[in-house]
Parts: sequence; structure tokens; C-alpha cells
Amino acid sequence: MKSAGYAIAVFAGDGTGPEVVREGLKVLGALAEGGPAPWHLTEYAGGGQYYQKTGREWEPEGAAAARDADAILLGAVGWPGATLPNGDIAGRALVLGVRESLDLYANVRPCRLYPGVQHRISGAYRQVWSPETVDLVIVRENTEDLYTPARGRLRRGGETEVAIDTRVVTRKGSERVIRFAFELARARARGAPGDGVRRVTCVDKSNVLEGCRFFRETFDRVAAEYPEIQRDYAYVDAFTQWIVRNPERYNVVVATNMMGDIITDLAAVLQGGMGFASGGNIGEGHAMFEPVHGSAPKYAGKNQVNPFATFFAVEQMLRWLGGRNADAPLVRQADRLERAIASVLRDGRARTYDQGGTVSTTDAGDRVAAAVREAPA
Ligand code: IPM
Ligand code: MN
Repeated sequence: MKSAGYAIAVFAGDGTGPEVVREGLKVLGALAEGGPAPWHLTEYAGGGQYYQKTGREWEPEGAAAARDADAILLGAVGWPGATLPNGDIAGRALVLGVRESLDLYANVRPCRLYPGVQHRISGAYRQVWSPETVDLVIVRENTEDLYTPARGRLRRGGETEVAIDTRVVTRKGSERVIRFAFELARARARGAPGDGVRRVTCVDKSNVLEGCRFFRETFDRVAAEYPEIQRDYAYVDAFTQWIVRNPERYNVVVATNMMGDIITDLAAVLQGGMGFASGGNIGEGHAMFEPVHGSAPKYAGKNQVNPFATFFAVEQMLRWLGGRNADAPLVRQADRLERAIASVLRDGRARTYDQGGTVSTTDAGDRVAAAVREAPA
């Protein structure tokens, strides 16, 4: 740890991003009370709205700040009509650009249902899955696959116009993310909720796609190094049913980038919705943490959205920083935050609109900050 503590670069971004990040920083502030904060935060402007105002995706210092930070906290990026000349979303530099340039190859998305959280299905709020059955982590490859920036159009506008996206699956990219998944399965306290078995499921479409066959071959090769962990396979189409019907079977899941993008949104329904889904983009020396939901322009400025995904992102960030720097007190802070979040969720003290409640974003933040103060360090 540097003398001034961990440098955390904060990019609140667009829409509701600043609203949830503000609550995340409030909770961090509560954790640091009573002593010198083991981190210092610097906020940077950027995103689609910033682009519309300035013609730049982020402040000139943004890229260096992301590179030099010990960790990055991102809100959300994307604003209607904010598009780069090449058609990409303005603000991609903050999300896809950082994933690429800092080589954040594993997108780690925990999916856990906490007691007291409800599911909204067909407009009604109910308990569809039980907290004892939903506790898995999806590890999404984060640097290649269909996200490889090798795409374009031929014959713009003509009858014969063609659009091409290139799917790239490399040995290195696959191997490192698959190894990450097995290491995670080894490190986690428990196996799958249903049977306690430590299991890594490879989700792919290897019955059709060559890149997926390669990914699965690599999976088998890496799996051989972890004989104590059960290997498991699912074609992505079948997986979408099984995860809904039997979430308790899953422990750690690994997938290529695009499929991982889709199945993590699906899985978020099991944990109460996107309002609870956080992700850590993790590389060798860098990491960025974010709520998985987008900027939700419709709700921007209304102080209504659910900030819990950001609280979980903060928790993930502290846990990663603590683990990486062998900083046991910081890991304890992550545990403390998790306990505080769980206690607020358990008694439904902070239900925002997506949970059928009327609590505002700010009030939800206040309640978690208060729970942090009550939770002993
Ligand atoms: C996500 C998001 C991003 C992605 C978008 C905002 C580019 O959907 O983090 O899952 O596709 O990866
Ligand atoms: Mn997504």
C-alpha cells in the first residue's frame, strides 16, 4: 500500500451512473470513519454526455488515471444519441476501451440471492428462487471473441451492403480466463448450493462453432490441472433453461465474451434483477468494478434507481484490493460491508422501485451507510 493509501479512480459516467456512484462513495466514507481512509478517491468526468458537451470521451487525464490507479470504480456509460463518428457508443473508451487497454481479461459476475430480495416476474413481486439455491459466479472472457474490434461494412448503403464482425478466440485469452475460473472455484468457501460440489461449467456452442470447440479443448486441458474440481459442460441454449430451473447446480461458470454478456443479464433475474448485479473486470495488475446495469436514461435525475449493484461492486473492489495486497484489514472491511448490505436487504429496509418499494436511491445509501456504522469492523 502506498503511503496515501490505494488510489481509486472513479468514473461516474452517464445517466444514473453518478447517482449510484454517489451512494457507493457514501458507503465507502462510512467504512473509513474513525481512522485514516486506506484509500483516496479521485473522480474523473467522461461518457456519452461528456462527449456531447466536449467532443471528447473523457477528460484528458482519464486514460492515465485509469492506468495508474490501484483500482477503478465505474458507474455506467451510454446516452441516447451520443455516438462516435464510426458508430460506436460515445464513452466506450471508459468501458470497452479500459478492458482492452488494461487487458482486464476476466469479467467476474457474482450471482447470489440475498434473503429479503424479491423477484419481479410478470410485474408481480414474489419469491421465485430461494436464497439457498442461488450462489454462483459467472466468469466472462472480457477481451476478445465478438468484441474484438475487427469489424466493418462493405459497400455502405448499397443493395449488397454487408456487415462483418470477427469472432476471435485465442489460446492465451481462453486459457487465462478458464484458469481464473478454476482458481476461483478452488478459493470459494463453498461448492454448488445444491450438492456442495466444486464445479466449473463451460458454457459454449461447441456443437456448431469452431471458436467454441477450441475454448472447450482449452477448458479440458486446464481442468486436468484441477482434479478436485468437477468439470461440467452446457451448450449455451440449454444453459439458459437449466440456470432458471436449477440454479443450485451451478458454482462457477465460464464463457466467452458475447455469451457471457447475455447469460449474466439472464442470471441477474435470479438475484433480484440488474439492480443487484455487480462485476469486476480483472487483469494481472489492474481492475475495474462496476454495476452491470447501464445508465438507465429513463430514470436519470429521479433519485429512484437501486444502488445495491454499486455497493456490491465496492465490496468486490475492496476484496480484490485486499487479496492482491495481502491486506487483511481491507478484506475485513469488505466482509463488514457485505454484512451491512445483507442486514439491510434482509428486513427490506431499502426497497427501491424495482423491488416494489418507494425508497429513494439516496435513502437506500443512507441506510446501508448506517448499517456499516453499526457493523463492527
Ligand atoms: C456489460 C455491458 C457492456 C458490454 C456494454 C455497455 C458495452 O453490456 O458490461 O455487460 O457489452 O460488455
Ligand atoms: Mn451486458
